[in-house]
Amino acid sequence: MADEWARYLRQQAELGGREVIVGHRAGSSDQAAGRGTRDADPVEPAPPATAPTASRGLNAESGPADWRKGAPPIPGPGISVEPPTASMDEELSELATLEAVAAVVRGCRKCPLCEGRTHAVPGEGDPGARLVIVGEGPGQNEDQTGRPFVGRAGELLDKILLSIEVPRASAYILNIVKCRPPQNRAPLPDEIAACVPYLHRQLALLRPKVILAAGTTAAAGLLRTRKSLGQLRGQVHRYGDVPLVVTYHPAALLRNPNWKKPTWDDVRIARQLLDA
Ligand code: URA
Ligand code: SF4
Repeated sequence: MADEWARYLRQQAELGGREVIVGHRAGSSDQAAGRGTRDADPVEPAPPATAPTASRGLNAESGPADWRKGAPPIPGPGISVEPPTASMDEELSELATLEAVAAVVRGCRKCPLCEGRTHAVPGEGDPGARLVIVGEGPGQNEDQTGRPFVGRAGELLDKILLSIEVPRASAYILNIVKCRPPQNRAPLPDEIAACVPYLHRQLALLRPKVILAAGTTAAAGLLRTRKSLGQLRGQVHRYGDVPLVVTYHPAALLRNPNWKKPTWDDVRIARQLLDA
């Protein structure tokens, strides 16, 4: 935990930010940066409606600001990873549609997370989506409904997407793990290893134009790196030939509105890549 805390402070420093903690509970420092408690957190105070440093783009009450205004230039290249090839997972590569993958996910018992689930959450969206968002894993609301990002973090994600003129229904939303970890803890390496082949298969079927990785778990799972979120932001990574942008998890933004401004920059980079 001391490690996590040090990493958090380092990320703050990298962002040039003051250390600001909003609704931060003792003993949960591991969730400070980039990672989400995935909603339904009764201890969490409501975030201020507008934070002084947060961007208008992600806070606007009267319709989103024009994302083009002051958008950062597209940054240089970061990490490149090759997605697994079909021959590496023959069983999954036989699944020809997203619905077929979802059906297997719903019956999956490949890791212990199956024990605690109400519903698996395979993901949802427009099968022709050009933008795919990858989160961490289901929280309580998602587990109850079987749908990704439907709690408070989900509402914020919807707003973020609208701010770059990508209505949620035209995107596709996926997670690193498809079943809810107990107490909304981060998924463990073994759980990620068991589940991530589904994500790779879904991405192979979707063939998006841009991937947005929300939070440390998504970034680490897709890019197979242990770099911090602060180190991964501000670069365009590659997943095969698909550009991948890393940003904060919406649940992290609920706790720390200071991260809204950098997130607004990140998603505007992703938005430009959609047009590129
Ligand atoms: N947080 C996530 O990472 N995924 C969800 O689906 C919901 C909240
Ligand atoms: Fe299967 Fe993934 Fe659920 Fe684990 S989390 S049981 S691997 S679907």
